[in-house]
Amino acid sequence: MHAAWGHRTVCGQVWAGLGPFPGKPGNPWAKLGVMDGLQDRKIILGVTGGIAAYKSPDLVRKLAAAGAEVQVVLSAGATQFVGVAALQAVSGKRVRQDLWDPDAEAAMGHIELARWADMILVAPATAHFIANLAGGQAPDLLTTLCVATRAPMVLVPAMNQAMWANSATQANRERLQQRGVRLLGPAFGEQACGDVGPGRMLEPAEIVAELDQQSSAPQQDLAGVRVLITAGPTREPIDPVRYITNRSSGKMGYALAAAAAARGARVTLVSGPVACTCPSGAQCIDVETAEEMYRAVMGEARDADIFIGCAAVADYRPAQAAPQKMKRKDASMSLELVRSPDVLASVAQLSPRPYTVGFAAETQALERNAGSKLKAKGLDLIAANLVGPKMGFDTEDNALLVLWPGGSKRLQRAAKSTLATQLMDLIVGRFKRVPRPIDMTGSD
Ligand code: CTP
Repeated sequence: MHAAWGHRTVCGQVWAGLGPFPGKPGNPWAKLGVMDGLQDRKIILGVTGGIAAYKSPDLVRKLAAAGAEVQVVLSAGATQFVGVAALQAVSGKRVRQDLWDPDAEAAMGHIELARWADMILVAPATAHFIANLAGGQAPDLLTTLCVATRAPMVLVPAMNQAMWANSATQANRERLQQRGVRLLGPAFGEQACGDVGPGRMLEPAEIVAELDQQSSAPQQDLAGVRVLITAGPTREPIDPVRYITNRSSGKMGYALAAAAAARGARVTLVSGPVACTCPSGAQCIDVETAEEMYRAVMGEARDADIFIGCAAVADYRPAQAAPQKMKRKDASMSLELVRSPDVLASVAQLSPRPYTVGFAAETQALERNAGSKLKAKGLDLIAANLVGPKMGFDTEDNALLVLWPGGSKRLQRAAKSTLATQLMDLIVGRFKRVPRPIDMTGSD
């Protein structure tokens, strides 16, 4: 077991961090007390050649209404789907398309334009554009701006579901996220080609709301609050080379740790073996087995204000791990398994105890099974999700049903980073409302 202070997150979606920006009068949303994260932001909106490009004028209008100054840059393919005149009218700026346009370059050269931007937003972002960007290719004006800028980049992918699932596209997505490029969506649903699956562009209103939320300084409503989180799978050894484990990637637990740290919490993340990097501001403790996770958590739990059990802890482990590699002998063999400690239930039984949140991964009867776990383990709140092929485990997005004594809320399918923020909102709201029991056993 070792502890490490992390620097950045590579699991889930990475937000490059736009930092706070002061709101100014003039934004109609700001007057209502909402949407001032985009006030006076200079945004290059790149539009590439997908059918969703027809929504671009609406997106420009909504960005402008939120206070942003928008410069539209079209790829060659985009002009097949959206008119230059419409974009020019709504943005109030000449639309840029060509790296070799001498008039436009004389007004503001591409390097100047790349420096001008506070953010480059590409919506829709096609598989071709994503591949170019991942490969550092700059064959046109938009890709050149992306290579030349130091501004944060946000891509809103839109493509056929098979193109999105293609392993080359997924590898490109992963490379970009590891470089700090933020992705919004894609959403799941019916596509222009008739397919159903992930690949739809988020709606303009959703894009603007998401950007606004991320551009605003995160509320420090967990300042000083100690949050303990478990994540990932555990590995239960059979012999020195074999073990029992499960499909958990740790992405949700790491996204929750990042979301809590961004709100000012003092986060300790106890994690099984995963391919994620410790989130910035969190203290990470690496463990392998359920027993190690139990000991690490019980060592920290009394000092925690909130505990979130997000790990997929192995319920059973081999009664005895063979000291040497087991040899193939008989036609069949049996393993004797014994129960592992239930980390979550053990934390819930502490007195006093932290505000205790569990997860339930179910293949059926989600609400009933999660409701039973909430009661049986005596939790304050439980987040339940369906798991199965391409659902829940080792995926980029998820949907949650959140239950607490006397209430529930459905969180619609979204990126795990978005869900983590929404779940933290619920946890923070309830944590503040539910009074903590007073320790009657301790000395003064
Ligand atoms: N959990 C835990 N320790 C265990 C098993 C589960 O801390 N040994 C926690 C998980 O982190 C999760 C919650 O319990 O927050 C639910 O886990 P799950 O495996 O879905 O529930 P179980 O109680 O193990 O029930 P079952 O496997 O029968 O569905």
